[in-house]
Amino acid sequence: MESDKRVSETHIMVLPLHAQGHINPMLQFSKRLASKGIKVTLVIAATSNSQSMHAQTSSINIEIISEEFDRRQQEESIEDYLERFRILASQGLTALMEKHNRSNHPAKILIYDSILPWAQDLAEHLGLDGVPFFTQSCAVSAIYYHFYQGVFNTPLEESTVSMPSMPLLRVDDLPSFINVKSPVDSALLNLLLSQFSNFKKGKWILCNTFDKLEDQVMKWMASQRPSIKTIGPTVPSIYLDKRLEDDKDYGLSLFQQNVDTCITWLDTKGIGSVVYVSFGSLVSLGEEQMEELAWGLKRTNSHFMWVVRELEKKKLPDNFIEETSEKGLVVSWCCQLEVLAHKAVGCFMTHCGWNSTLEALSLGVPMIAMPRFSDQTTNAKFVEDVWQVGVRVKADEKGVVKREEIELCISEIMEGERGYEMKRNAARWKELAKEAVNEGGSSDKNLEEFVAELVCSSD
Ligand code: UDX
Repeated sequence: MESDKRVSETHIMVLPLHAQGHINPMLQFSKRLASKGIKVTLVIAATSNSQSMHAQTSSINIEIISEEFDRRQQEESIEDYLERFRILASQGLTALMEKHNRSNHPAKILIYDSILPWAQDLAEHLGLDGVPFFTQSCAVSAIYYHFYQGVFNTPLEESTVSMPSMPLLRVDDLPSFINVKSPVDSALLNLLLSQFSNFKKGKWILCNTFDKLEDQVMKWMASQRPSIKTIGPTVPSIYLDKRLEDDKDYGLSLFQQNVDTCITWLDTKGIGSVVYVSFGSLVSLGEEQMEELAWGLKRTNSHFMWVVRELEKKKLPDNFIEETSEKGLVVSWCCQLEVLAHKAVGCFMTHCGWNSTLEALSLGVPMIAMPRFSDQTTNAKFVEDVWQVGVRVKADEKGVVKREEIELCISEIMEGERGYEMKRNAARWKELAKEAVNEGGSSDKNLEEFVAELVCSSD
């Protein structure tokens, strides 16, 4: 049929920031596009991490550009690094485009990570439509947008800040970069705010969330920019609608994972008896915090599985792994989705990265929120107070969460009455997440509309 032909001739390039928490949602969305017959090329900027990159996805094409994207930690400021990144990535992308232009399938659209706003100008320069993809929650994006427009400033004059369609937020609930404490925070804040330089440009904006999860704030954002489309949660299909064949994992990991060890260990544990602990791909805990967490986990009545990335392992207390081998397993990376879906897992102690948060919601797992920086603080607020699927730890005056607090929060979720309530709420969000991506759901409809519109516009 003519329309099928037009779909299969549409070629989209997708450019995420080269971090696991940004690659996963954009890769997953790429698979959804490919399932509609569209040709998708995911472009990855290589770093030394990528040497251990495992790509196992056949529905999309993956292209790696340049090998020089590592930050030169000592001598390069974040600003200098981002500028070098922009230049190298632009060159790599332009070369790729030229290669594809010589093929039967020149790309027509560039979907780019919204924190790489220069990609919009590059897309236009190359004759493509640029589409920003917001990988963080809509609430977090809305807060940055208000701040970008000067609606509020920090330090806050009051103890809370009020924004349309959102609960009252305390300073600790705002994305951490807004409270600039260091030049790095300031550079990262500028990066996050730069997302809005293109907010009124282009035909579409994509956002990794779903309508019912962020109903009010989503409506408010749509009042500012009607073409914003929710397309999440971008979790592999097997955990949600099961409509994409073989879509069991993200399929592209920057870390080595040992799936068998984790699952074999979980198989030996009782239903809901394990606390799964992970702080994602970037967070690095201080030594004191690492120690408090370690002893907090040792004190609980529950089993635990703790992801401690290879470079973090040196901060574990001496003999901790040996002393806790009866009740705990420490791994350097795991297949988080398989772990969260395992019946032995009773709760997730998480830094509240947006992907981890969406995954826990999609799989119905209650959370212990232990945010560290960036959007995690706001996500933690929503986990506890809005979606009511978790408790947030309290830190002491130095910002350290003590072992007693960790033990208390774990017992509250694993053993307490409140834990049952949160499990019930989590189960409800799981159903709503499924509904959103299933046939006719809000995110599915948005995906269908997006595909129809872009096929027409690329004619
Ligand atoms: C970063 C930021 O920290 C986060 O706040 C922001 O929202 C996205 O970018 P990251 O810290 O890595 O991401 O956290 P998160 O967003 O949770 O993404 C981590 C991803 O790695 C998840 O998809 C998770 O499933 C995966 N993961 C994590 C594994 O597959 N195995 C692990 O052992 C740990």
